[in-house]
Formats: sequence, structure tokens, C-alpha cells
Amino acid sequence: MIGTDIALAKTLLQAGELVAIPTETVYGLAANAFNADAVLKIFLAKNRPAFDPLIVHAGSIAQIATLVTHMPETGRYLAEQFMPGPLTLLLPKKNLIPDLVTSGLPHVAVRIPNHPLTLQLLRSLNFPLAAPSANPFGYVSPTTAQHVQDQLGGKIPYILDGGPCSVGIESTIIGFDTTPPTVYRMGGISIEQIEAAIGKVLVQTYSSSNPRTAGMLKSHYAPHKKVVLGNITQLLQTFSEENRQGLVGVLSFKQDYGCPRQVILSPDGNLNEAAGRLFAALRTLDNLPVTVILTEPVPDVDIGRAINDRLKRAAAGQPDAEGEE
Ligand code: TXA
Ligand code: MG
Repeated sequence: MIGTDIALAKTLLQAGELVAIPTETVYGLAANAFNADAVLKIFLAKNRPAFDPLIVHAGSIAQIATLVTHMPETGRYLAEQFMPGPLTLLLPKKNLIPDLVTSGLPHVAVRIPNHPLTLQLLRSLNFPLAAPSANPFGYVSPTTAQHVQDQLGGKIPYILDGGPCSVGIESTIIGFDTTPPTVYRMGGISIEQIEAAIGKVLVQTYSSSNPRTAGMLKSHYAPHKKVVLGNITQLLQTFSEENRQGLVGVLSFKQDYGCPRQVILSPDGNLNEAAGRLFAALRTLDNLPVTVILTEPVPDVDIGRAINDRLKRAAAGQPDAEGEE
């Protein structure tokens, strides 16, 4: 069921049930982070491997402080600058966070989502919410309540509808075990914004052997259709036969390539607008009767770096033979 009833969402979460929640980045699939049985339901609904830990959502910096054993100075400063907002901190966890939430890792990922409905919900609860993106593991993240309904509707009792997500790309994940700190996933807060606040950071967003986050897997955030990233004009030549048969979808940044099955992310060339539309566009094209989606990188600055990161992972195809997420 989809609705805007915060009291119902609260009752379900208190009873150990799952509720999909809106955030400024993407929709999350939430459960009481202190209740391991409730958290287990998230892994089952998403078909998510147990080695992939969850982000814990809190309503305030003060609440975050109750979940961790230590908050480094730079972490606190970033929290004050960017929270609520699309930034996730990796911090040493207290024992009250079940190991299932962190996949046995000593750190917990924490963030304060910047969405009025979800902030109100979080601030009315006496526990934080563990919530991954509300999509089957490996697939494109949902940016509307309907996206969640389409894929997980039968598996969760309630979807809190907060409208389309304003940022549209997941949070930036940063850890403090290195000097300087390391960004493990590019997202809604840009590297430029972080560096303006705390100086140079390391960026390590790919790891195949020992991924720190599943978002570091080469292939993730992937549609079912084949995605090819490159120069669209040249790719339209390469796929001219498919194009003639109407089997090509085009996902462009701002240019009109004259292809009938085309989504232009931002005709004005605005990267924030492009980020906001990216995942919905991938879903739209994935659901059309095309065999291939041709796309191009956007300018590699600001949130454009996170967009390019997601496009590369989408183009890397499906992570496993079952074609999940
Ligand atoms: O914007 C977001 O962060 C959204 C919304 C719903 O908040 N959430 C989200 O969650 O993208 P998810 O689970 O789809 O991606 C979280 C990433 C995963 O790649 C996971 O491996 C990583 O965060 N992660 C979570 N806890 C971690 C931990 N303790 N150590 C390292 N990586 C962690
Ligand atoms: Mg995800």
C-alpha cells in the first residue's frame, strides 16, 4: 500500500515490519535498526547478500552520537556542514547496533536524510532506521514511490510516499580510517563540496576483490537491458541495424540525437537536474522494447562525477547470472 500516513509507518516499524521511506537521494527500505529480526526482513525482501551492510538513518547528530564509540573531528565538522543531507559517515559502532546491520564490520554507516516526512518519522521513533535503497539487489535505485511498488510492492506492507526524490542519486560515503579520509562512494555531496570543507580526500570507489561497499562492485545499479557508454553519434553507427528496427534507446545528457526512444536528462545541461532524472530515465528505457541503451558521460565535475560513476556501473552489466538488481 502507498500513502502518506506517518502514524501508520511508525506503528508498522515499531512492530518490526518493513516500510519504504522517501529520502532526498532515493527511496529506502526501512526497519528498526536495533531489531535484528526486522533487519533480516530487509535482506530477504531485497534478495541482498548478507555481506552487504546497511546504512543507519538517524534524526539528528545527537542521535548519531549515541550509535558510535567515536566521532572524529572531521566527521563532526562534515556532519554539521552537510546533515541533514546526502552524506554518509563510516564510524566505529556501539554494540547496540546488531552485527547483521554492518555485516559484522566494526563500522556503521550513518546519515540523516533530508526529507520532511522521513525526518518527522525518524524524530518520532526511539530507534534509528536501517535502510538500503528499496530495489532488488543490483538493480537501479527507486526515486518514486511507484518505482518501489513496481518491484517490491508485494513484499512490504507500506510505502510512505514523499514524492519524487530531489537529489536522485545515493549519498556520498566517507570513512576516517585513512589520512586524509577516503570517499568510498560518490554521491549527492560532491568531492568538491567535501574538499572545500575539510581539504583533500582520497577517492577509492572501485574494489572487486574486497569491496568496502557493494556500490564498489564494478557492476551495480544496472538495468536488465545492455547499456553501452560512449560517444552516442558513433554508437548509433555501430548499432545502426538495431536502430533501424527501433530497438535502440538513447539516454543523453543534453543533446537531441533524433532517436524516437530517447530520454534527454537535462536539455539545459544542468547536472543537478540530470542526477534527479537519471534513475527514472534508466527505468523508462529498460521497460521499453529495446535491446540496447546507448548513453554518454556527462561533464566530470560536481555531481556529474557521481552520475558518471553510476553510468559506468550500469554499463558493466548484471552482477550475477540470476540478473538480480
Ligand atoms: O542515499 C543513500 O545512501 C540511500 C538512502 C536510502 O539513504 N541508501 C543506500 O543504501 O544507497 P544502499 O544499501 O543501497 O547502499 C549503501 C552502501 C552499500 O554499498 C554498502 O555496502 C555500504 O553503503 N555500507 C553500508 N554500511 C557500511 C559499512 N559499515 N562499511 C562499509 N560500507 C557500508
Ligand atoms: Mg543500493
